[in-house]
Amino acid sequence: MPQTTLTSGSTYWPFKKYFGVYNRSIKDPEAFWAEEARKLEWFKTWDKVLDWQPPYAKWFVGGTLNASYLCVDRHVKTWRRSKVAIYWEGEPGDTRVLSYSTLYREVNKFASVLLNLGMKKGDRIALYLPMIPELPIAMLACARIGATHTVIFSGFSAQALADRVNDTGARLLITADAGFRRGKPVALKRIADEALEITPSVEKMLVVRRANIPVVMTPGRDVWLHELMDQASLFVNPDPMDSLHPLYILYTSGTTGKPKGIVHGTGGYLTFNHSVYKWVFDIKEESVYWCTADVGWVTGHSSIVYAPLMHGAAIVLYEGAPDYPSIDRWWDIIEKYGVTIFYTSPTAIRMLMRYGEQEIEKHDLSSLELLGSVGEPINPEAWAWYYKHIGKEKCPVVDTWWQTETGGIMISPAPAIECPPLKPGSATFPLPGILADVVDEKGESMPPEERGILVIKAPWPGIFLGVYGDPKRYVESYWSKFPGIYYTGDYAIKDKDGYYWILGRADEVLKIAGHRIGTVEIEDAAVSHPAVAEAGVASIPDPIKGEAIVIFVILKEGFSPSPAIKAEIKDLIRKSIGPIASPEQVYFVSKLPKTRSGKIMRRILKAVATSASIGDLTTLEDESSIEEVKKVYEELKKEV
Ligand code: WT7
Repeated sequence: MPQTTLTSGSTYWPFKKYFGVYNRSIKDPEAFWAEEARKLEWFKTWDKVLDWQPPYAKWFVGGTLNASYLCVDRHVKTWRRSKVAIYWEGEPGDTRVLSYSTLYREVNKFASVLLNLGMKKGDRIALYLPMIPELPIAMLACARIGATHTVIFSGFSAQALADRVNDTGARLLITADAGFRRGKPVALKRIADEALEITPSVEKMLVVRRANIPVVMTPGRDVWLHELMDQASLFVNPDPMDSLHPLYILYTSGTTGKPKGIVHGTGGYLTFNHSVYKWVFDIKEESVYWCTADVGWVTGHSSIVYAPLMHGAAIVLYEGAPDYPSIDRWWDIIEKYGVTIFYTSPTAIRMLMRYGEQEIEKHDLSSLELLGSVGEPINPEAWAWYYKHIGKEKCPVVDTWWQTETGGIMISPAPAIECPPLKPGSATFPLPGILADVVDEKGESMPPEERGILVIKAPWPGIFLGVYGDPKRYVESYWSKFPGIYYTGDYAIKDKDGYYWILGRADEVLKIAGHRIGTVEIEDAAVSHPAVAEAGVASIPDPIKGEAIVIFVILKEGFSPSPAIKAEIKDLIRKSIGPIASPEQVYFVSKLPKTRSGKIMRRILKAVATSASIGDLTTLEDESSIEEVKKVYEELKKEV
């Protein structure tokens, strides 16, 4: 496999301190994490570092702290009060720069607004906002008073929004009149109005004025943020939260039709993220850190809000599309704010690669020191392009593997602790404290160079607390395959040098442009069409998005395939989930390949859609008759 030696421009190369730190962390994890946790400021120190009753891990038991205090109050007591916290750039080109003292004041006032609306510790508050400063401000305000925030990606449809809001039982929804995307206002308030018709728990809607478009305010329910901010107090006490207090709930797709509400706590989550952003990005107060993810995903929670702000760095927050109004928008932003750390997805890299280098050469990107990639496997070509054309062969590229559930980065190069040399396409080694392995179906370690399932064999502080309202699912989805061992759902190999290569999902979850989407969620949306009897979803490789969705549909008796039904199915999926789940292809078929117990064999669908062979069927668990599957496969090939 290819190996890159970084040129001498790098200050990190080629030391190997990493192994010392890693070995120490594994030998005595509790002592190691206690030392890391002491780098935060606690109101009360913990009584016990870890209480591990598999599969439940409680970190820093008895300790109290406050996330908002760590992200703002701590800085306003120092010179950082007058340094930049947020460089915000709206898509139309409007900008706002917030110092830490401004951020502190806004967070306090926002927290006061929440209290004045009757919100209290333990309440759930849903956020459906564009990428504007009010989004991190609202999150920190919730954290300040101990309300659990649930950020819902602003690209989700009214139905998807309502489903998530209902699952949390949120009392308040915070939204904006609209946000800008590709030059047009996306009317979020209108979508929220539609969602709120079916969300009985929501009492109030707090609306941020962003785009100045006309909206209908429902008297008694809807309130403008700016009106309430005018009457808000300038200080709200950052309430001490128990280390295990739920900081947030974030929904992600699993193997059933219902998304899972991943609950993260406070003490473990913050400690973990504080440490990993130091090791991986060498983040410091003078860093200008730009993570291009939407705050609606976990990347945005940890990499835009909590970790960089705890470190007192400046973050860049950009509202809009990467190629609007022109394809060099991102390079323009890097140059304009002097971004030092840039963190994005392989999909974005592949998309921008297509436009060629001349767009990059228009800009001075020399402020960059480190580049990151996240969300899906990065192919070595995209890695090499990123390294050469964006990093100019002087910035390490960190390919960071993690999940919504893990809370923070787990496997990644860690330049700040002098990690081994990079290999393009490999996430390299587990970070300190992370006991990863690649195992077979029985949980035995795989030999090098052989594909197996990626697992984590010991608890780490960022681990989620559970699936909201569904303790059974927590155990079943993550801990029942290998008792006491965390099942990631990913395939991986370890090469002969011990480097990890993440190969994609081993379960019924797709990664479309880095977004996690469940096959069953899409199938459920399709079968809600009156003409559809059954549907099966698979993915095909896509040169930009990594994977693209294809759907196989069996129509009910009396309906025949037509372009109109195709369009309606696509539309229905967009309405029930959002545009990110829109299928590339809809195939009308007469049969779906199934196991004996009736589970759709999506692997066979994938083989049909990609004209691949179906491979070795004997390894399938619970397979239907091999002959039967082969027959269906041959028939389907003729039909599509
Ligand atoms: C899944 C988690 C964690 C931030 C965004 C995604 C895939 C994530 C990588 C990587 C290969 C990756 C995995 C994982 N994934 N990072 N560096 N290389 N695959 O969070 O939506 O919870 O998705 O994303 O399949 O399980 P998420």
